[in-house]
Amino acid sequence: MDHFLSRISFIKLLLTFTIIVLLTNTRGAISQEYTGEEKIVQTSDTLQQPNPKLNVKRNIFQRFAGKPATKLPKSNDCWSFKGNKLTIDLAKFPDLSIKGTALRCEGEDLTDPVLVIHGDDGKFHAFRNKCTHGERRMDPVPGGFTVQCCSVGKSTFDYDGHVLKGSADKPIIVYPVELMDDNKLIISITE
Ligand code: FES
Repeated sequence: MDHFLSRISFIKLLLTFTIIVLLTNTRGAISQEYTGEEKIVQTSDTLQQPNPKLNVKRNIFQRFAGKPATKLPKSNDCWSFKGNKLTIDLAKFPDLSIKGTALRCEGEDLTDPVLVIHGDDGKFHAFRNKCTHGERRMDPVPGGFTVQCCSVGKSTFDYDGHVLKGSADKPIIVYPVELMDDNKLIISITE
């Protein structure tokens, strides 16, 4: 009987904890992930609206599972990797033409996953796609001029890789990106 009662108490405790975490997470998602909106309003003459398709709001289960908002492309035909150069053919991945969008490059001969984003500043940026806290994937925060880890810690980094908030205490690796005349991006994988 005692054993049964203690199981019930444990389940109650677990449910209470889950509800508290869910409420905390929802509020955090709204307040943290859309702080960039002010910047959009202030500079709307120069910025497009963020990509409406990319919703970086993650619920607690997605965050526990480390599920990023940026999906892998249907095929890797839009990029290739040779030497230390990652080449993205923008003609084959036109989604990246909108500010706030991203491309995940993983597999093939790439040692580390790479996140390529079309930043809110209109430039392309590339990062080693592993949060320095627990190596989860990241997403651009539309309108936020940042990238954010999809995990519970929500580590957020600026385009230079510096930590702005969250659980990480080290910067992420940023790769140099060059936009060529033939509409290709050349990314030097330096480390
Ligand atoms: S893995 Fe990014 S905050 Fe923990």
